[in-house]
Amino acid sequence: MTLLRVLSVASEIYPLVKTGGLADVAGALPAALADCGVATKTLVPGYPDILKALPAANTLLQLDSFYGGTARLLGGTCEGLELLVLDAPHLFARPGNPYLGPDGQDWPDNALRFAALSRMAADIALGAITPLVPDIVHAHDWQAALAPVFLHYHSGPRPGTVMTVHNLAYQGLFPYEMLGTIGLPPDSFNVHGVEYYGKVSYLKGGLQFADRITTVSPTYAQEIQTDEGGMGLGGLLRERAAALSGILNGIDTAVWNPATDPDIAAHFGFDALSRRAANKVALQRRFGLDPKPDAPLLGVISRLSWQKGLDLLLANLDTILGEGMQLALLGSGDRDLQDGYVATAKAHPGRIGVVIGYDERLAHLIQAGSDALVVPSRFEPCGLTQLCALRYGAVPIVARVGGLEDTVVDADEAGAGATGFKFGPVTADNLAGALRRASVTFHDKPAWQSLQRHGMTTDVSWRNRASRYAELYRDILATCGIATHRHTAP
Ligand code: ADP
Ligand code: GLC
Repeated sequence: MTLLRVLSVASEIYPLVKTGGLADVAGALPAALADCGVATKTLVPGYPDILKALPAANTLLQLDSFYGGTARLLGGTCEGLELLVLDAPHLFARPGNPYLGPDGQDWPDNALRFAALSRMAADIALGAITPLVPDIVHAHDWQAALAPVFLHYHSGPRPGTVMTVHNLAYQGLFPYEMLGTIGLPPDSFNVHGVEYYGKVSYLKGGLQFADRITTVSPTYAQEIQTDEGGMGLGGLLRERAAALSGILNGIDTAVWNPATDPDIAAHFGFDALSRRAANKVALQRRFGLDPKPDAPLLGVISRLSWQKGLDLLLANLDTILGEGMQLALLGSGDRDLQDGYVATAKAHPGRIGVVIGYDERLAHLIQAGSDALVVPSRFEPCGLTQLCALRYGAVPIVARVGGLEDTVVDADEAGAGATGFKFGPVTADNLAGALRRASVTFHDKPAWQSLQRHGMTTDVSWRNRASRYAELYRDILATCGIATHRHTAP
């Protein structure tokens, strides 16, 4: 088989550095691609947590002056991932969130930090280290979006390029004056290049110049071509419609496996669903909820941002209480939402439980112990928590948007094949309707178990989805006239 070599470029990667689903995807896709004849190396920034995980990394390249300081490219493997690490201490030797400083604001030099990441990707792609030259450069989100741009402005052969949009809301917009420091040529600053209303837009550049654009669900691929969902880039995405496709995310079914999960109270599976009850007991205890097996327990695991629509759930407190439901919410983000949920939990002990923070292990217990997982997002490119919920028998209650629309089958529409409840348009009233429908079904045990069982047999793995990426890579090489570097698998 012809082995295809991909350089994936990502600003976070599970299990080393994660703020959201991008890390999960960057961490899980390489193993699934390996089964499709694709060998992936992932270029990531040398944050402290990444360097710590690679104590024996090799130095592949040493640069005296790279975006204002010295830099090295390191290579190593960790947790089955083949990593290339841009170790540039002046840019990345900062603990904590990869994008935000201690004041909670973007690092002021983010333009440089992620231009450097993309420039290094382009340099690798163009032969800075001969054995590392890939067939395809796969850039994830704005932080990597300049890689296809740098490659576009290089004359001569180059690998194929893919730009994946995980979230169009984050575009990497920086002042025009930075163009030179970023390393972009003056002629890139025009409406057909990186210019966006007088600023430099990294994501626009990537969308403009990548050979193919993907996003993480078919419905989101449609939504972002509209004026409303396009977040200012709808026109460009419509122009590039022939190059754009939606490929659903999967989840790592080894990490998310209720039969072996080390972070839950009792293992269970399709054939042993009754053992799930012990997880509900543990979850109720962890969140200070009344130990009631018959109260429908809603779970939430989320960033608390406008996107996620959790203000709509808060507005439904009366519905939750009126239906005799409980809520266990784990999340962090917007101050107002955090405060609102904490105050509500204080006012309704035993009914509403809230943990503010980021806790990977607790997320597993919520999936295993809640009866239903609520994802009321205003927009959702794919969403991963509803996929984990399906696998764990937590019935998803989701907004009818993006990947949520594509991965959950509504109880009223599909009868026997249903897996959850969907509502739309995304309003508090419509969410209330879905919560009530869920509550009624919860008390009809056979109907509820049917939803759970269909969810648990839904394929949420990467297997079939990774093969779509492999096809896309091969299609680029076949159709874009790109000089490739062929490698034969041993
Ligand atoms: P997004 O990337 O937009 O935040 P996704 O649903 O794609 O949304 O991915 C979110 C990922 O982050 C999931 O793996 C989810 O379990 C995890 N997650 C989100 N918030 C928390 C939290 N507070 N604690 C633990 N895990 C979280
Ligand atoms: C983004 C999106 C989310 C998606 C994730 C991984 O963070 O908000 O919907 O699942 O990326 O692609």
